[in-house]
Amino acid sequence: MNEIKVNLEFCKNFINEDEYESIFNKVKSALVLLESKQGKGNDFLGWMDLPVNLKKEFLEDIAETAEKIRNQSEVLVVIGIGGSYLGSKAVIDALKGYFNTQGMEILFMGNSISSTYISEMTEYLKDKDFSVNVISKSGTTTEPAIAFRVITKLLDEKYGEKSSERIYVTTDATSGALRKIAIEKNYKSFVISDDIGGRYSVLTAVGLLPIAAAGYDIFKLVEGAKNAYHHCNDNCIAYVSARNILYSKGKKIEIMANYEPKLHFFTEWWKQLFGESEGKELKGIFPAGVDLTADLHSMGQYIQEGERILFETVLNVLTPNADVLIPSLPDDVDGLRYIEGKSVNYVNQKALEGTIQAHTDGSVPNIVIEIPVIDEFNLGYLIYFFEKSCGISGHVLGVNPFNQPGVEMYKKNMFKLLGKPGF
Ligand code: PA5
Repeated sequence: MNEIKVNLEFCKNFINEDEYESIFNKVKSALVLLESKQGKGNDFLGWMDLPVNLKKEFLEDIAETAEKIRNQSEVLVVIGIGGSYLGSKAVIDALKGYFNTQGMEILFMGNSISSTYISEMTEYLKDKDFSVNVISKSGTTTEPAIAFRVITKLLDEKYGEKSSERIYVTTDATSGALRKIAIEKNYKSFVISDDIGGRYSVLTAVGLLPIAAAGYDIFKLVEGAKNAYHHCNDNCIAYVSARNILYSKGKKIEIMANYEPKLHFFTEWWKQLFGESEGKELKGIFPAGVDLTADLHSMGQYIQEGERILFETVLNVLTPNADVLIPSLPDDVDGLRYIEGKSVNYVNQKALEGTIQAHTDGSVPNIVIEIPVIDEFNLGYLIYFFEKSCGISGHVLGVNPFNQPGVEMYKKNMFKLLGKPGF
C-alpha cells in the first residue's frame, strides 16, 4: 500500500450501517458547502486551493532564502505561537533524525512567556551564529513580540548594523506592528494572505521557510498536499463521518495516538487545528494526544478503564525510517527468546494491533490512519487531509471552523492586569 488510507474497520462495532448512511449524506453536504465557498467563515478559505496555487517562483524564493540562512548561520530561531509555529515544528520533528545534529539547528521561541526559557535561549545563542524568522500574522501577538524584542537586542549587540540581514519576517501584507517594523528596517519579508488563518498556514511561508531552512524538501511537501487536494475526499468523508457519529454517541474526546514519538508535534498541530476550529458555541470534540507505547504506561489505564467518553485516531506508520533486529543471547536471562531475531518495528506493530484490540474491547472505538512512511510527501498529504476534514467537520457541527473568538478572553484580562492602554 502506498497511499494514505482511513481505515474504519475498528469502529464497525460502534457504528451501524444506518448511522453511517445518515451521517454520510450530511458530511457530503458539508463538503459541498465547503467547496462552494458559501459556508461560515468563507473569507478564510485561501488554504483550500493553496497546493495548486503556489507558484514555482514563490517556492524557489523560499528555497533560496533558506539556503542563504543556512549559509549565514548555524541556528535559525523561529519566533511564533499557535499556527505560527506548530506546523513547521510538526514537520521538522517528524522528518529529522532523533539524534541527528547535522545541518541547521532550528529553535523555537515566542510560544510561551517563560522567563527561564528566554533567558536560557539568549545564553545559548551568545556563542552561536544565528538568524531569526519572526512569524505573526497579526503582528501584534504578545508572546512573539516579547521574544522578538529580546532577540533583536541580542542580534544588534552581536552583529551591529549587519543584524538586519539576519532577520526574516513573515506577517500580514499591510497591517500590524511587524509589517511596520519590516518596512522601516527593510527586513526581508514574506506575506501571509488575509484569507488564510494561522492554523491553516503551514503551506504558506509560515511553515515553508523554517521547513526549508531545516533542509527538507518543500517541493515534495507541496506535491503531497497537491495529491491530497485531488484525491483526499473519500478519506475526509470517512474520517469526518466516523468522528461525528461517535461524538453524537457521547464520545466527546478524540485521542490521536502515534507509535512513533517523532509525531508528537504532529499531534500538537492537529490538536490546535481541531480544538480552535470546532470548540465553540458549547460544542466540539476535545482533541487530546498520546505517544505510544510510552503513554500506555500512564494514560493507558484511563483509556482502557476510565470514563467511556473516548475514541482514538491512530497514526499507523507502516514502514519505519529505520529498523533493528532484536539480538540473540546464548541464554534467555531476560525472557526475550520468543522475539529474538524479530525486528523492533515488528514488535511495535504487534503492540499497536494488541492495543487496538484491547481498547476496542474496552469500548474505545479506533479510527486508523495508515501512513506508508514518514516523508515530506505523506506529511504534505496529511496536512491538507486534516485541514480539509476540519473544515468539513466544522460545517457538520454548524460552527465557523475558521475563527477563534474565545482566544481573546485571556488576552483582555492579561492586558488589563498589565495596564495596557485601552484595557
Ligand atoms: O490559528 C490561529 O489563527 C491562531 O492560533 C494564531 O496562529 C495564533 O494566535 C498566533 O497569531 P499570530 O500569527 O497573529 O501571532
